[in-house]
Amino acid sequence: MPKKIIGFSKLSREEKIDWLSEKMFDDSNQVKSILDNYLNSNKDTQAIHDSFSENSISNFYLPYSLSPNFLINNKNYTIPIVTEESSVVAALSNASKFWFDKGGFKSKVKSFTKRGHIYLSFDGDKEALKEFINKNKAEILKSTDNITKNMKKRGGGISAINIIDKTSDLKNYFQLSIDFDTSDSMGANFINSCLEAMSKKIDELSKQYDYFVKSGNSINIIMSILSNYTPDCIVEAYAECDIKDLVDINGIESDEFAKKMKYAFDIAKIDISRAVTHNKGIMNGIDAILIATGNDFRAVEAGIHSYASLNSKYESLSECTILNNKFRLSIKIPLSVGTVGGITDLHPLVKLSLQILGNPSSRDLMSIIACVGLAQNFAAVKSLITSGIQQGHMKMHLINLLIKNKANKDQIKRAKKYFLDKEINNSSVSEFIKSNK
Ligand code: MEV
Repeated sequence: MPKKIIGFSKLSREEKIDWLSEKMFDDSNQVKSILDNYLNSNKDTQAIHDSFSENSISNFYLPYSLSPNFLINNKNYTIPIVTEESSVVAALSNASKFWFDKGGFKSKVKSFTKRGHIYLSFDGDKEALKEFINKNKAEILKSTDNITKNMKKRGGGISAINIIDKTSDLKNYFQLSIDFDTSDSMGANFINSCLEAMSKKIDELSKQYDYFVKSGNSINIIMSILSNYTPDCIVEAYAECDIKDLVDINGIESDEFAKKMKYAFDIAKIDISRAVTHNKGIMNGIDAILIATGNDFRAVEAGIHSYASLNSKYESLSECTILNNKFRLSIKIPLSVGTVGGITDLHPLVKLSLQILGNPSSRDLMSIIACVGLAQNFAAVKSLITSGIQQGHMKMHLINLLIKNKANKDQIKRAKKYFLDKEINNSSVSEFIKSNK
């Protein structure tokens, strides 16, 4: 029977590393040296990072990049990007430069409601339950007064409470659906705190409610949580130009490029095997700016992919249309993001990212993110239907392999030329280094 460790979280950083070395490594000095190498030399900065998560023993770096020349709603943005994937930033920068002279991207927030739920079971008279909720709405709302006070000052708060009968899906299942405006914060903590306060109040009130006491039917609260499905927090973005302006694209005529692009987008609309990868290309950009701005990319990913299945079938999130000689790309996605709260007030690089973006409101950030997703999508499909994506990828892959094989500056310079028409893999690069000392 494997032995489990008790009290791991209570161990000091050194003790955790000792435990790790002893359990899993032969060379404890090497383990410690790698972990120490990624610690921040500034104690205060390190303390900030340690505070984000539990059992932390070091930091995990990812490149922090910039993509300039992003024209969005006539404003010129530089986009902070965090990604480990080679070619993503280069492709994004190419796309934003391409669209800059054509009017850039336009974007609009269409709706801004976030939702949370109290999930409950009740096996009594449905009408009595509805009456109980409706009669007590004001008091249930009041239970959140302390939490909503500041949010109300910022223009947010709770805008609706509805009891929804879900008993045809699951026996005795009801949902209390609550609408929130969380202003510039993503609002997860705010929503969840409100929901928990309301649940407590509902439980308390229901125990004194005459009908429930007499009939013996009580409300059984199962759980209370915000939903990452945010179909009423929607942003749209598009980029548009005359077909004749689609020039300088890998030697392809503008007409042919437009048609091929549209066909590729149409395939992604109807074919799940392509839709998922097409959307992954969109998320390459979206996740990268979400991370740079300290937003919860898992929440956005979950929300966006569920939205892609809105028509009971997983579809691409973007469209390409050709009408009256105009070529247009557009995207419509749910985005629940924040520019205050969470780690936006704590992580120095997140603060910097928001400054680089001109300290946007959460609505502005929704617009920026949607445009980044669309630009990334354009860049990927443009490569796919022209040169293929490997050309760009392999250039970066070569650099990675050269670094892995400890190439010096001169070897890197010569390798770039040599591998222009050669197979790039670890053994060919390692051979090259050996014979070019
Ligand atoms: C690779 O990370 C992303 C792409 O596969 C996206 C796409 O196929 O559209 C290139």
